Amino acid sequence: MKPPVEYPPTFLDLLNRPLRSLRLSVTDRCNLRCQYCMPEEEYVWLPRSGILTLEEASGLVDVFAELGVNKVRLTGGEPLVRRDLAALVKMIVRNPQIEDLAVTTNGVLLADAAQGLYDAGLHRVTVSLDTLRPDRFRALTRKDSHAKVLDGIEAVRRAGFKGLKIDSVITRGVNEDELIDLLEFGRQIGAEVRFIEYMDVGGATHWSMEKVVSRAEMLEALTRQYGCIEPVASASWAPADQFILPDGTIFGIVASTTTPFCRTCDRSRLTADGTWYLCLYAQRGIDLRTPLRAGASKAALISLIVSGWTRRSDRGAEERHELRTRDVLVSAEALRQDPHLEMHTRGG
Ligand code: GTP
Ligand code: 5AD
Ligand code: SF4
Repeated sequence: MKPPVEYPPTFLDLLNRPLRSLRLSVTDRCNLRCQYCMPEEEYVWLPRSGILTLEEASGLVDVFAELGVNKVRLTGGEPLVRRDLAALVKMIVRNPQIEDLAVTTNGVLLADAAQGLYDAGLHRVTVSLDTLRPDRFRALTRKDSHAKVLDGIEAVRRAGFKGLKIDSVITRGVNEDELIDLLEFGRQIGAEVRFIEYMDVGGATHWSMEKVVSRAEMLEALTRQYGCIEPVASASWAPADQFILPDGTIFGIVASTTTPFCRTCDRSRLTADGTWYLCLYAQRGIDLRTPLRAGASKAALISLIVSGWTRRSDRGAEERHELRTRDVLVSAEALRQDPHLEMHTRGG
């Protein structure tokens, strides 16, 4: 007798990395204009007719789940500008294979949305917040929404979510003087703060190496304030390295620019129009919407995904790191030609 088929099948890419995590961008629109992500005046948006319906998006998540994906992060653009995000959450958490469903949001619309998302079954929330100063927030995002973000964070705590994280992109000349204030803020509200190195991703048209505050620099500044900081040992596939202060406070650093972590990258990204990207830096994606709308069977979609992943050799951040001189990845003009190259399209 044949042994039972292992299900879901274990399959690896060319660098022996499994597919376990999916970042699902639900919209390319955003209600802020962060300097490191959307610094231009005008943007070309994805055509509306191509945007996946909630049913299409959750149907694709189910296909990925059959293949071993157990971690899904809803991103954008700003995911909360998509109406009915809570309905999508409800559809995704119905699948018992999805053990971790999180959202990464700028927090502007969270105050009204947090309870509904919690009730819908969302597991975790990560809020992007780069400054505690309203005037600086305005300069950084071109909007006066700082108070709304703070209200949103409060609403997340009130709703009962566990595992709140605050993501802060640290940029030289902008907010590197707020490392300690941000950490203290996180400690006060019981959230894990993660400092993110400024990345040269598509959309970062004002990027330069001089503006990157490295993990080493951040640790140096924090050590001056707090004394000995120890790394937290973990066999993690997550982008953030964790550290612990002498008083037990844990924080993270995502050092993708100076210390890429491509060797442990189990992530892929699905844009709001159903294009599947195997790397944050990938120039081309795989169109899943066309076969989906043409009525492709689940087996056909599975075979498309497996054949894409098993050919994957992407290590975009490492390749950028290996360059002798490093400049902006994609010009503003090229981004207008293909908005899929934007970080805000493929999921921040
Ligand atoms: P957790 O499950 O909470 O650990 O989530 P996460 O850290 O994967 O997600 P989050 O959206 O908080 O990501 C934090 C930051 O890490 C992002 O905003 C990016 O700057 C960076 N990042 C996330 N995914 C990737 C990736 O695939 N490649 C690289 N190079 N950087 C990434
Ligand atoms: N560098 C680092 N992180 C970025 N993000 C977007 N653009 C960049 C960039 N150039 C990430 C940040 C932000 C999230 C929405 O997207 O983590 O918090
Ligand atoms: Fe993964 Fe590409 Fe990011 Fe490297 S740059 S961690 S391969 S998505």
